[in-house]
Amino acid sequence: MRASLLCLLTLCVLPLACGERGAGDSEPEASVTVSSEPFGRLPDGTAVDLFTLRNETGIEVRAINYGGIILSLRTPDRDGQLGDVVLGYDALAGYLEETPYFGAIVGRYGNRIAGGRFTIDGTTYALARNDGSNHLHGGIVGFDKVVWSAAPFEAGDSAGVIFLYRSDDGDEGYPGTLDVTVTYTLTADDALVFDYRATTDAATPVNLTQHTYFNLAGDGSGDVLDHVLTIEADRYTAVDGALIPTGAIAPVDGTPLDFTTPMAIGARIDADHEQLRLAGGYDHNFVLNRDGPGLVHAVHVVAPSTGRTLDVHTTEPGVQFYSGNFLDGSITGKAGHVYHRRYGFCLETQHFPDSPNRPAFPSTILRPAFPSTILRPGEEYRSTTVLRFGVSEE
Ligand code: GLA
Repeated sequence: MRASLLCLLTLCVLPLACGERGAGDSEPEASVTVSSEPFGRLPDGTAVDLFTLRNETGIEVRAINYGGIILSLRTPDRDGQLGDVVLGYDALAGYLEETPYFGAIVGRYGNRIAGGRFTIDGTTYALARNDGSNHLHGGIVGFDKVVWSAAPFEAGDSAGVIFLYRSDDGDEGYPGTLDVTVTYTLTADDALVFDYRATTDAATPVNLTQHTYFNLAGDGSGDVLDHVLTIEADRYTAVDGALIPTGAIAPVDGTPLDFTTPMAIGARIDADHEQLRLAGGYDHNFVLNRDGPGLVHAVHVVAPSTGRTLDVHTTEPGVQFYSGNFLDGSITGKAGHVYHRRYGFCLETQHFPDSPNRPAFPSTILRPAFPSTILRPGEEYRSTTVLRFGVSEE
């Protein structure tokens, strides 16, 4: 069962991950590798494994099957020096004690569901409430806090790990048994692909994402306010003080949320704008510009100090740009680094927050290419996000 699933997934993932290759080209070299080793144990003795992906550029991704957490991600700067560009802890204990979702897979529903309730086909369901009176990032024990089955694979010019998890009926209040597969694939051409799939035996909300905190100047090197960001979004979903969407899909034009042209994250982050005051900075779902389904370019980021760049492509209609406003110096992470406010940022590709209670989301304009977040039996949830790492000579 596992072997055939693996085969199927590998076939599905590879065309996305491998880039373009002509039919007559020769067989690829095994230029991207994966290795695994034990990483630690949960208090109940459950083993946690570490998977290390490497390509010939030197990009190295270390991820564990607890929460699918990306522990470290080393990429070259403009001088070819490798550095870790994500926040986190050195050891498993940090992730078990307290973490603001560092590096983790988030589900069943990434972002917030108002009041921790929603109604499907006339039945109202009550979810765990873990963010005031609201439900956030899958609840108290979301997909970031469980051990996934994991299978590494190598396929020539890509390698990765497939994470599998069965979320039982009633998990955190959600209906239906949900089978989830998340594949991380590193490619020879410096992309890290997140591929999400899920099926269910009863209608349930699904909105999977990845919660890595980036600092392209290097983990622990300071805040990210000098990073220059472009987001391909003319609109965003306005929020209230609990970061629940008001329902308004507002234009970014003329506001500090306009990243349609390159702008330093810190240039306007403390501007006198209601949305920034409510969120303590950027913590907003940007409505990506798109004409239809498929991968679109969503975000470009460059760190001027190192030249490192990150490009995000996604099949999702939105991306939550979170500027690490809740980091407050209370966490000591890798190598003794203390994480102060805005020392990292997240780009959580997603359907819009609170969609189960907002029939008009993703938006009347985008429908029907992006139907509701309710997955039904017989359907397959699919989502892909591609991170591409590079350097800018500017
Ligand atoms: C998301 C949310 C933020 C915050 C972080 C975790 O990005 O939008 O408000 O909860 O996760 O600290």
